[in-house]
Amino acid sequence: MNSVSIIEAGSLLRGLTYQGTHGLFVRYFDGVFTGDPSQTIEFTKDIEEFILLFKKYFDLNQCYPSAVLLDEGWFAFGNSYDTVGNDKQCCFSEKLKKRSRNDVVRGKIALVTGGAQGLGESIVRSLTEAGAFVYIADIQIKKSESLSKELNHQYQQTVVLPVQVDVSNEESVVSMMEMVARNTGGLDLFISNAGVLQAGSVKEMKLKDFDFVTQVDYTGYFLCAKHAARMLSLQNKPTGKYFTDIIVVSSKSGLEGSNKNSAYAGAKFGTIGLTQSFALELVADNIKVNALCPGNFFDGPLWSDPKYGLFVQYFQTGKVPGAKSANDVRKYYENKVPMLRGCRSEDIMKAVFYIVEQEYETGQAVPVTGGQVMLN
Ligand SMILES: NC(=O)c1ccc[n+]([C@@H]2O[C@H](COP(=O)([O-])OP(=O)(O)OC[C@H]3O[C@@H](n4cnc5c(N)ncnc54)[C@H](O)[C@@H]3O)[C@@H](O)[C@H]2O)c1
Repeated sequence: MNSVSIIEAGSLLRGLTYQGTHGLFVRYFDGVFTGDPSQTIEFTKDIEEFILLFKKYFDLNQCYPSAVLLDEGWFAFGNSYDTVGNDKQCCFSEKLKKRSRNDVVRGKIALVTGGAQGLGESIVRSLTEAGAFVYIADIQIKKSESLSKELNHQYQQTVVLPVQVDVSNEESVVSMMEMVARNTGGLDLFISNAGVLQAGSVKEMKLKDFDFVTQVDYTGYFLCAKHAARMLSLQNKPTGKYFTDIIVVSSKSGLEGSNKNSAYAGAKFGTIGLTQSFALELVADNIKVNALCPGNFFDGPLWSDPKYGLFVQYFQTGKVPGAKSANDVRKYYENKVPMLRGCRSEDIMKAVFYIVEQEYETGQAVPVTGGQVMLN
């Protein structure tokens, strides 16, 4: 009957049923769908033809079909992920109303790579709080699963799903996108946040360490943007005006060099070059692509881990002259910021909400540095 992939079908269906204030899920079932079988339509090979068929159905019935039939299963529509006692259906709930700026993500589907800890975790928490459904995509699946368990329990419904990914491996990124297509059809907001840091003098740094940072921070972003763009572009096709976002978490080290941290700064500068180039191309697909450049996020494990955090490391190696404790090291770094503190989760989220809300900007690198780095 058809040869469309799960990703093609899912993203197209989400695009067809998305109404801005009405976040609709599109879920794939490889078994029997228990909805009304008289309200199903078949997917045709030709995507343009399918769009016409789907729109015709809507015009005639003033509602969506309950399911779309593919070769190997069904895509069903609904407004919330769970139904109590029947996981074969999606269920409709009240229209999702917008109340404040944060509501720009209410009812949207987001994915955060590196979402299991640190800055990514705080983005996941804030997005769910604002009413988005979020995939926690991380190489550390156990951490993603325990964060999912905690949040789903807190909200008493499925608001997040864990997914294992190694962003530097293309097969792994593809299977992550397939998992997304099966569960929610498409995606509205892709946040490429996973990153690693290996500091060291350019005179000493091993090629394997340089390559490791480049593979995750630079190539990983390319792979994620490539496969996210394939999904999002199809999603935008039916309406031609539905905006979706790709955001990369770069760094203030993507805007100015970082002493003895060249692999990281080089990769982070690179993400901005990629962002500008992707943005120019993907504007035709109604996908905005922007970078966030946070200053130091002192509250995350990278800096504050009591054993391996940079405060402890810098104290032990005497990097900050005169420091008598890890806390003195923290104060030293806070004093480098004109606003005298590190970047916090809420600072980053204001920038995320701005980027999503702003429909007249793309290809930008938005600093969130307390004045530490100024654009020229
Ligand atoms: N912490 C800061 O001060 C700061 C400042 C500016 C920018 N950033 C950027 O923010 C992002 C998050 O940093 P963080 O401080 O939260 O780091 P973190 O080390 O606490 O968290 C990074 C997460 O990414 C995951 N990850 C690592 N490699 C991966 C891979 N190959 N595939 C999938 N997931 C992978 C890790 O498992 C971890 O959960 C990074 O891109 C970092 O460069 C951090």
